[in-house]
Amino acid sequence: MPQPELTKIAYKTLQYGKSIAGMAHKELSTKLMELLAPSAVPNLEPVSRELLLSLRKSIDQLEHQDWQDAERGIYSKAQLFEAPWLDWATRYPLVWLDLPSTWERRKINKIQDLPNEVDKNIYPDYYLQNFHHQTDGYLSNHSAGLYDLQVEILFNGTADAMRRRVLAPLKNGLQVFRSRKKSSIKVLDIATGTGRTLLQIQRSMPEIELLGIDLSLSYLRKANLSLNKQNGPLVQLIRGNAEALPFESSTIQGVTCVYLFHELPRYARENVLNECFRVIEPGGILVLADSIQLEDSPEFELVLSNFHKVFHEPFYKDYIHDDINYKLSTTGFENITSESFFMTRVWTAKKPLNPLKKTS
Ligand SMILES: C[S@@+](CC[C@H](N)C(=O)[O-])C[C@H]1O[C@@H](n2cnc3c(N)ncnc32)[C@H](O)[C@@H]1O
Repeated sequence: MPQPELTKIAYKTLQYGKSIAGMAHKELSTKLMELLAPSAVPNLEPVSRELLLSLRKSIDQLEHQDWQDAERGIYSKAQLFEAPWLDWATRYPLVWLDLPSTWERRKINKIQDLPNEVDKNIYPDYYLQNFHHQTDGYLSNHSAGLYDLQVEILFNGTADAMRRRVLAPLKNGLQVFRSRKKSSIKVLDIATGTGRTLLQIQRSMPEIELLGIDLSLSYLRKANLSLNKQNGPLVQLIRGNAEALPFESSTIQGVTCVYLFHELPRYARENVLNECFRVIEPGGILVLADSIQLEDSPEFELVLSNFHKVFHEPFYKDYIHDDINYKLSTTGFENITSESFFMTRVWTAKKPLNPLKKTS
């Protein structure tokens, strides 16, 4: 059998294995919760067989796209297999040990259960919560250590495949600067968290300068471990609020932002978009990725509503109705596109070469 066929089978097998593992984990942990903490069990609408089949089809389409992008050289096929396997294996028992405190928070709706040492004055109010009922919110090394694995389980092993959907539009958008030295091109990842998106960008565009910003020092520390361990340009990781980016105007050629918007109140989403527009150089590109929304994925309405019942996501209900295309265009962006891949919608938008003032 030719090598590419074998690699494709290996990729599909890996993804299938992760999907089974993710589903088995969720099934088992729900059973355990029913047994040990029945009052924490959320009241969910049952998912029909038809819906399950269309979710499976949507995962297949995502993975097909992931494979195609590797085939056409947007990133290497090796990247499809990369993950901190040993780190995840050693942390997996901690995911289980963490469950009872998550159930307890859900049961009594305790949503501001944060470490005592957190200086509450340096964060916006909306941030000081246990998103997803996560232990310590985003504000401890413990939380940062478990986050990637928890997201991977939540999305049945497709999280990185979804994050990689920003790579093709980003590379394409940066083409306008192709006559420049690659090392002079800057890409900023907003709300970079533990750096999984930056890692995907770094692997596919190793020569460019990468920057990441996030409010959580613990998450940035975790990101630093994976992003700055090899030779090559240092990735700059900065603690800061995406609503007030600490960068000069028009100095960054590409901006990405993955899974932030559903965790922001509406006004903050607008502030972040204005800041993206300000820092991007005219001609540069913004690639946003976040949860699918009701308008584009009405067939998954039940999944969106169940997600919001299981996890503490205070702004999700508002987010899934928010017209991001409209917001992008009133911010001043042009050439706006959007496309969904399984649970993720990806928007691309260009800052015009001659930007006008905002229209509203
Ligand atoms: C759901 S996580 C997404 C992390 C990462 N982009 C990923 O793909 O996994 C949301 C991240 O947004 C960060 N965050 C939330 N509000 C923020 C803000 N106003 N400014 C900067 N980062 C913020 C959190 O600390 C957290 O790391």
